[in-house]
Amino acid sequence: MLARRVSHLKPAPTLALTAKVNQLKAKGVDIVGFGAGEPDFDTPDFIKDACERALKDGKTKYAPPAGIPQLREALAEKLLKENGIKYSPSEIVVTAGAKMALFLIMLALLEEGDEVLLPSPYWVTYPEQILLCGARVVEVPLREEEGFVISAEMLKDYITPRTKMLILNSPSNPTGAVVSEEEQRKIAELCLENRVFIVSDECYEAFLYDGEKFVSPASFSKEIREITFTVNAFSKTYSMTGWRVGYVACPETYAKVIADLNSQSISNATTFAQYGALEALINPQSKEFVKNMRDAFERRRDLAYHLLREIPSVDVVKPKGAFYIFPNLTYYSQKLGSDLALAEYLIERGKVAGVPGSAFGAEGYLRLSYCVSEETIREGLKRLMEALEGLEGC
Ligand SMILES: Cc1ncc(COP(=O)(O)O)c(C=O)c1O
Repeated sequence: MLARRVSHLKPAPTLALTAKVNQLKAKGVDIVGFGAGEPDFDTPDFIKDACERALKDGKTKYAPPAGIPQLREALAEKLLKENGIKYSPSEIVVTAGAKMALFLIMLALLEEGDEVLLPSPYWVTYPEQILLCGARVVEVPLREEEGFVISAEMLKDYITPRTKMLILNSPSNPTGAVVSEEEQRKIAELCLENRVFIVSDECYEAFLYDGEKFVSPASFSKEIREITFTVNAFSKTYSMTGWRVGYVACPETYAKVIADLNSQSISNATTFAQYGALEALINPQSKEFVKNMRDAFERRRDLAYHLLREIPSVDVVKPKGAFYIFPNLTYYSQKLGSDLALAEYLIERGKVAGVPGSAFGAEGYLRLSYCVSEETIREGLKRLMEALEGLEGC
């Protein structure tokens, strides 16, 4: 018999959907996939070359559990220069992607029965990891009319003596919502007053639009830094999802435990991949690569938003960051009974794929990732509109 802790476990629906689309593609079906959670750009050659050099130089052995020292030093510099937070390398742990950083933080902090505040819609992995650690998910519903943006005022009502942690993800997957600096400050103060840890998932830091500025809550004050876990990765910023390199920065007491957990589970993030990540941080060519990718995503965001607004009975919030758009298709999903049925209908009849909102705690929506060319966005949204028209009169 399997352990109770895995009884709720589901495979990430985003991965299952990508697999289904790939299967259909392999059969020769022409399908537009908006399901991917990764940039369609390749990892830059200068990063690949650094990894290749590392392999040739014999960087093929175990690394320290917290990561290679050069990378931790470069990360401390990045966090100071770009995020305004002073961390020493001993407060930084390199992990196998941000996903592992999040999981190790939760393993280190959560007790059976602890409550974790999770603004909803949320990224699919958060509730699974919280439950795996025996804690309770407390969903804080976000309102579409308010652009899916969390506020301190909303959070207040959900704090109890058992509240241990808040997950903050700005820019957000799946909505692309960005929390203003002013509001993040209020949220952080509220957490400080109530002794609630902040896990700030900053994976989409590089993808902000309309002149929005990125802000890390740990930069607000010494006291807030003490309760904050700053999580980030190379995955999205440098298009390195398959490399599996991420990190967490936090006070040393916690960093030590997280490094020990790393050591007793995966040992270390892949050694030669860490050299690639180091290059991404120190090579001046990175800036231009990231800028080009961000600019392309902003154009695609504008296009997708414009086209979705033309579809009757569809509401859509303009995302301010990340690379997802989250239209409300409730009018159509209700005709088929659920957003899952709608997503399946769209794949089968419309040859266009997105991820149903219910995977993110928001029934009736569809997450579309615009990590595809503008031409593909046009074609895919034309198919979406036609397939939805096919439901009129049902
Ligand atoms: C909000 C968020 N956090 C973390 C991750 C995982 O990042 P990584 O691939 O570095 O594990 C993702 C990936 O989709 C994400 O959307």
